[in-house]
Amino acid sequence: MRKKIAAANWKMNCTLPQAEDLLNKLSTANVHVTEEKISIIAVPYAYLLLAKQILAAKQNIFVAAQNCYTKKSGAYTGEISAEMLQSMQIPYVIIGHSERRDYFNETNSMLADKVNIALEYNIQPIFCCGEALDIREAGTQNSFVEKQLKDSLFHLTNEQIIKVVIAYEPIWAIGTGKTATNEQAQEMHQHIRKVLAGKFGNDIANNISILYGGSVKGANAEEIFAQPDVDGGLVGGASLNAEEFSTIINSL
Ligand code: PGA
Repeated sequence: MRKKIAAANWKMNCTLPQAEDLLNKLSTANVHVTEEKISIIAVPYAYLLLAKQILAAKQNIFVAAQNCYTKKSGAYTGEISAEMLQSMQIPYVIIGHSERRDYFNETNSMLADKVNIALEYNIQPIFCCGEALDIREAGTQNSFVEKQLKDSLFHLTNEQIIKVVIAYEPIWAIGTGKTATNEQAQEMHQHIRKVLAGKFGNDIANNISILYGGSVKGANAEEIFAQPDVDGGLVGGASLNAEEFSTIINSL
């Protein structure tokens, strides 16, 4: 059975005192998580260990990084490696968020390298895909997302792909307050699962969690998560408020 996941993506937000406060609130929040319904909190690198420490007693709430570099180590000023994340026992890393693709020119092939190195160090990638507004308006979103998956994930073995979490995030819905309709989300998630099934088989595709991201809030999480192929969400803005994010976790 695939897991249901409420993932927080803090992006480049929170000072140290703010991060501490938010983590403390999350650590005492009344959230229902189990082995099958988990939460993942992707914080800025600087707060990874703090987050692990504050959430240490919370079973089934995990800490994630928001990115890692393609190389093992070396002269890459400002970057962080999968090996470093592993040494801090960080179990998940977001790979290929649209902001990384857009602002930092991350390409499908670079993301394939990032997925590889994360898996090499036993860190589960949360692989992001999704189309911009012009592609949606042209009606070519299915083939666009399919290419993202093919270019960055299709070289993986069955044992590797099963460790990947997919996050479908239509760029036009990120931080805009404009959520995809339940039908649009379901349609794309079903398409993604079909693409995965075509390459890796039905059993594997049915066991991969596919999260929706883009203006998920406490008020709309339940209906989006109720779609048959939507296995939870990757949440930006609304994850910066402990109460709101707790509602989202409890909507799984
Ligand atoms: P949002 O961001 O929830 O603020 O739209 C989602 C994301 O970019 O992961």
